[in-house]
Amino acid sequence: MADIRVICAIGRSGQLGLHGGMPWEGRPERAYTEDVERFFEITRGHVLICGPKTVASFPDFAHADRTIVTIRSSDRPQDVLARFSDRVVYVGGGPAVWDVYAKFVRHWDINTLPYDGAADTWFDPAWLLAGGDHSRS
Ligand SMILES: NC(=O)c1ccc[n+]([C@@H]2O[C@H](COP(=O)([O-])OP(=O)(O)OC[C@H]3O[C@@H](n4cnc5c(N)ncnc54)[C@H](OP(=O)(O)O)[C@@H]3O)[C@@H](O)[C@H]2O)c1
Repeated sequence: MADIRVICAIGRSGQLGLHGGMPWEGRPERAYTEDVERFFEITRGHVLICGPKTVASFPDFAHADRTIVTIRSSDRPQDVLARFSDRVVYVGGGPAVWDVYAKFVRHWDINTLPYDGAADTWFDPAWLLAGGDHSRS
């Protein structure tokens, strides 16, 4: 099995997205620019699997030094992950993707940014426990 990870950034209340982009897109403060730099640094050389809207939100240069793969709801997660069994795979979202792939993820890297504004896409903390044992009462 591939080494399956997530790297994402959230606002103070779990904000993830707005109008197809990051809610804080274009903000010049250091916290935001450093987050983008860190994302590209950490995913460099690895596989990044994402839904079509998230892939569309990446700049062209992002494709040069990482393997970005658009995944669809018709793809079986096990088949997608089996294609990259000797690689580090980052599951890049969005939420419908994490709903399904969270149970395979062994490492979550979540940067909480100082953002308090609007969003239309939200982080679900249940994803963090999706790989666990649900039989406890
Ligand atoms: N803050 C962050 O770190 C972060 C990270 C990622 C995304 N975002 C934000 O999130 C928003 C985009 O997310 P989104 O969810 O709206 O769109 P998305 O990235 O296109 O992801 C959802 C799509 O993934 C596809 N998909 C692939 N495998 C699937 C599966 N097994 N089950 C269900 N769907 C699957 C589906 O496309 P089909 O129906 O066409 O198959 C689904 O519509 C943007 O605003 C983006 O900026 C933020």
